Amino acid sequence: MEQEKIIVLDFGGQYNQLIARRVRECNVYAEIYPYTTELSVIREMNPKGIIFTGGPNSVYDSASPHFAREICDLQIPILGICYGAQLLSWMEGGEVETAPVSEYGHTELQVDESSDALFKGVTPGTVVWMSHTDYISKVPEGFRITAHTKDCPVAAMSCPERRLYAVQFHPEVMHTREGQTMLRNFVLGVCGCSGEWKMGSFVEQSIHSLREKIGDGKVLCALSGGVDSSVAAVLLSKAVGRQLTCVFVDHGLLRKKEGDEVEAIFGPNGHYELNFIRVNAQQRYYQKLAGVTQPEQKRKIIGEEFIRVFEEEAKKLGTVDYLVQGTIYPDVIESGLGKSAVIKSHHNVGGLPDVVDFREIIEPLRMLFKDEVRKAGLELGLPSYLVNRQPFPGPGLGVRIIGEVTEEKVKIVQEADAIFREEIQKTGLDQSLGQYFAALSNMRSVGVMGDFRTYDYAIVLRAVNTSDFMTAEAAPLPWDLINRVTNRIVNEVKGVNRCLLDTTSKPPSTIELE
Ligand code: XMP
Repeated sequence: MEQEKIIVLDFGGQYNQLIARRVRECNVYAEIYPYTTELSVIREMNPKGIIFTGGPNSVYDSASPHFAREICDLQIPILGICYGAQLLSWMEGGEVETAPVSEYGHTELQVDESSDALFKGVTPGTVVWMSHTDYISKVPEGFRITAHTKDCPVAAMSCPERRLYAVQFHPEVMHTREGQTMLRNFVLGVCGCSGEWKMGSFVEQSIHSLREKIGDGKVLCALSGGVDSSVAAVLLSKAVGRQLTCVFVDHGLLRKKEGDEVEAIFGPNGHYELNFIRVNAQQRYYQKLAGVTQPEQKRKIIGEEFIRVFEEEAKKLGTVDYLVQGTIYPDVIESGLGKSAVIKSHHNVGGLPDVVDFREIIEPLRMLFKDEVRKAGLELGLPSYLVNRQPFPGPGLGVRIIGEVTEEKVKIVQEADAIFREEIQKTGLDQSLGQYFAALSNMRSVGVMGDFRTYDYAIVLRAVNTSDFMTAEAAPLPWDLINRVTNRIVNEVKGVNRCLLDTTSKPPSTIELE
């Protein structure tokens, strides 16, 4: 049976990713496509509805993103949001101009047509989120104004006969109090979706379409043991079993026991049908990193070495048909936007395509957000400790050891970090903290142990709260927890005689130490 789908056409707005997600929260599958997608491709996908997103442009600028007007004649319901609303108006012969008063922020909405399908069950005078400098000054023929605000004569319009709807505000952001009701009204009411989609359906559907696409082809996956690549690998293994080979590079900079945990799940005694290759490259990495103290240089070496090791393994397999990557939606946005100043060069597996001889890249999770990927992981039977893992940087402990990385220092930070994590988990704080870990400062200081002088390392404890990892605040930790962790670390970890608590926020600091 064909899956019901809503297509979100991306015109460059900052909340676009939220729209698809909110639709999925209505239990209807949604995917985002660029506005440059051909009309014929859209027709082929046979969506139940189309949503035009917001965007930073003015529809009357000749360089602004537009779409073939014929899309309005496909007899597929359309909802235009913000720029998308203006575009719909423009395409249909309405007028759009610079608003005398720009609206920004919480705004009271006066619903003029409470019987309009979009506003079913919506409270009169509900608050919506506005962010626009242009507005629809004249609605196209056949449309009627269904809502306005103090400064916006057309806050919503519709042509129910053709199932075309438009809202100037953003129903997808939580500041629009009843935005979810409106989106639900659109996808279930107007588009007639059944609302039966679940993450389980996504998993099933993906397995089915991956199987069809891959046929008897050979598939290769770089498995890091992180959430995204693990979920992608399991999805592929369910689809094509032993046609999949996963290469897991243990660079010796993983958390305590992490390499063995990954092997236990994916290896020959694990739960999945796949070919698993663990490359124990620890010594190779330690040798490459010997004497290197500069953070960026360390990151580069770790990233490049990953590619070299992977390349060697891939060569042994010969040509593969498909390379799997665990790219998720936020990665797609990030790479699309182009980075500003390089604060840290992130090491993912982005360099791989150059070194593997393959036909095509498969990114089965590219439409999902992190929490959706976690749900898919649970659906696939991955253990919750793996699926709910906090983020761990690609260069691993390499960026949590200040200065030169040595095997001895890795051991110290692994042990200290394991204690910190264990104690945090006992308090239940792991459920709410954004990220927490132990790092090794390059500082040695004098201490006393029994009757002896010590001259050992200081461990840095870092715990932060963050919603987006772009900014973060040091998390307040209970003092008895800090005491317990400190005592255990200085007593149990050889080579450490001091613990320091990092209380800095980001900015000016970053979450990782390097
Ligand atoms: P910073 O230290 O820049 O970290 O505040 C922000 C978030 O990104 C993670 N991080 C990385 N993730 N490769 C990754 O995949 C990297 O090279 C990398 N460096 C930092 C960090 O753990 C935090 O969650």
